[in-house]
Amino acid sequence: MSKNKVVISIGGSILVPGNDDSAFMKRLADLIVRLKDEVQMVIVCGGGKIARYYTRTSAALGADTGAQDLLGIGVTRLNAELLRLALGDAAVPGLPLTAEEASAKSVPGRVVVMGGTVPGHTTDAVAAMVAREMGAERIVNATSVDAVYSSDPRSDGDAVRYTELTIAQLKELVYDDHGAGRSSVFDPLGVRIATEERIDISVVNGRDLEDLGNAILGNRINGTLIDSNRKG
Ligand code: UTP
Repeated sequence: MSKNKVVISIGGSILVPGNDDSAFMKRLADLIVRLKDEVQMVIVCGGGKIARYYTRTSAALGADTGAQDLLGIGVTRLNAELLRLALGDAAVPGLPLTAEEASAKSVPGRVVVMGGTVPGHTTDAVAAMVAREMGAERIVNATSVDAVYSSDPRSDGDAVRYTELTIAQLKELVYDDHGAGRSSVFDPLGVRIATEERIDISVVNGRDLEDLGNAILGNRINGTLIDSNRKG
C-alpha cells in the first residue's frame, strides 16, 4: 500500500454539466498537473446526464440493462477522452479498458484517465477496483454534492451532514442493488471493495478545486472522509 497512490472518481455532472466545460476541464487539468509529481493518480470519469440520456433512450427502445450499460460506458469513455485532451502530455497515452490495464499503466508523474469497464456497476466501482489493483490508499469521489448527508438536503431540511463516517456507516446509506443510471453517494460494490481492502474514500464537491486538491493530497477537507480502518 502506497501513501501517495490515489484513484479519483469524477462524476460526469462535474466534468460535463454543459456550462463552459472546456474552461473547467482546463482548470481541473492545471490542478492535476500541479499534483502529479506528489501523488500517483488514476482518474475514472463518469457519464453524467449524457449517459442517463442514452440509458433512458435505449431503454425506451427495448434495450436490456446490459445494453443500456454499454451505452453508458461509451459516454464515460468519451468524457475520459476530453479530460485526457485537457491533460496533454501529463496523461498516459491510450484509454485503459479494464482496472488491471489501468493499474499496469499507472506510473509516478503521469496520470491514467479512463471511463467504465463492463456492464453491471458504475465508475465508482471501477475506481475501487483500480484502487485495489494498484494498492491505492484513497479513493477521491469528486461529485456534485459537497458531502455525504443522511438524506437529500434539497428535499429534507433535517438532513444531517457528515464530515467523517466509518465505512460501516456509509454502507447503511448506499443502495443495495444496481440499476443502470441510478445514482447514490458511492456504488455499493465500490463500498464493498473499499471495506475489504481498507481503502479510505473522500467525498468532495468536484467543482471546488481547492477541496479536491486537499482530498487528493490527503489534507483536511470540507467534504466527508470515510475512514476504512475505523470499522463501526
Ligand atoms: P456512471 O459511473 O456515470 O454512473 O456511469 P452514475 O451512477 O449514473 O453516475 P453519477 O455518479 O450519478 O454521476 C454511467 C452508466 O454507465 C454504465 C452504468 O449504466 C452507469 O449508470 N456503466 C459505467 C457500466 O455499466 N459499467 C461501468 O464500468 C461504468
